[in-house]
Amino acid sequence: MMMNGELAGFTIPRLGMGTMALAIEGRPDRDTAIRTIHAGLDAGVRYLDTAWSYYLPSEPGTGTAKDLGYGEKLVRDALASWDGPRDEVLVATKTGYRRTMEVSAFVAPVSDSPESDTQGRDSEGCSRRPGGERQHLQAAGSQYGWMADSRPETMIRDAKESALHLGVDTLDLLYSHGPDPEVAYEDQVGALKQLLNEGVIRYAGISRVDNAQIDIAREILGDKLIAVQNQFSPSHPDPEHTMEHCAELGLAFVCWSPLGGFLDAFDQRAYDPFRTVAGKHGCSYQRVVLAWELSRYKRLFTIPSARNPQEINDSFAATELTLTQDELAMLNASVDARRG
Ligand SMILES: NC(=O)c1ccc[n+]([C@@H]2O[C@H](COP(=O)([O-])OP(=O)(O)OC[C@H]3O[C@@H](n4cnc5c(N)ncnc54)[C@H](OP(=O)(O)O)[C@@H]3O)[C@@H](O)[C@H]2O)c1
Repeated sequence: MMMNGELAGFTIPRLGMGTMALAIEGRPDRDTAIRTIHAGLDAGVRYLDTAWSYYLPSEPGTGTAKDLGYGEKLVRDALASWDGPRDEVLVATKTGYRRTMEVSAFVAPVSDSPESDTQGRDSEGCSRRPGGERQHLQAAGSQYGWMADSRPETMIRDAKESALHLGVDTLDLLYSHGPDPEVAYEDQVGALKQLLNEGVIRYAGISRVDNAQIDIAREILGDKLIAVQNQFSPSHPDPEHTMEHCAELGLAFVCWSPLGGFLDAFDQRAYDPFRTVAGKHGCSYQRVVLAWELSRYKRLFTIPSARNPQEINDSFAATELTLTQDELAMLNASVDARRG
């Protein structure tokens, strides 16, 4: 199977590394995080995935100056202290999201919003901040959450900060992190267009999108839109068929949470067929999942997180794992049965 692919002008292995788990809740100490990135690069990883929002607020709110940029600076410092070829490594980041801590401390009082629950959330699971501005909220139930703020001015300002955090003049690839219910998708994509025009970014990607949003972005960005980053794994098998749409348009498809993720619960039974195949190959089921993902589409990149060197070494070995046609057929059937 062809394990290299072209992305943002780089010809690189299609198994990259997500660095979110090194920067948010559950993160290891900074030295371990840097060693983990070095282990990935030494193994052959040439795509590092980060985001402006990969940090943890140290107090209620969306983070203090010392919190911001943690994940991007980690990537910058890991690359600066690595003795390999830095210019072979594609670094992609994202704009338009931020983290929150103790969201209930800064949503509007319940009495301000008759449709809110006691957390100040409305029926769509969204929160209202003082002033009535509505923000999308993820990770309910945790003291940390995610909040979309994809107003064009915020996206543009944060992208410029990302370049500073990463220590580069131009970002190789910038994704819009996800749709913001308060911002028309055209305007959000318009911010990416402006960043391209200003030379802040070389290529644009979009994330957490459906096929209609892919079409909007394609219309506005043309061939500067190169990648869609959507959730894809055996437990979240792309029910909206966005991977097929990417194939029709010739876009790269980058899988987020390719092993099911670690923030939200998922159906472990989806991985049973992968455990069976792993038993035959004498390897981890995670390696089988990643090898199977790579087989799904020739322009698919998968970006597993790792919290220690052993995990990324184990995952990267998926690029050398050959699954038989019968194994692939069985795994495809098991996943396709779940996606409808
Ligand atoms: N665009 C978006 O909105 C979005 C959303 C989510 C994620 N992402 C991107 O996708 C990347 C990956 O997603 P993710 O962090 O949610 O989860 P993931 O890659 O699905 O990984 C989940 C967890 O699996 C464990 N693991 C990894 N490799 C392993 C191995 N070889 N053997 C055994 N266990 C292994 C690690 O947890 P333990 O260390 O606990 O074992 C890891 O944190 C992120 O880093 C980020 O770049 C993007």
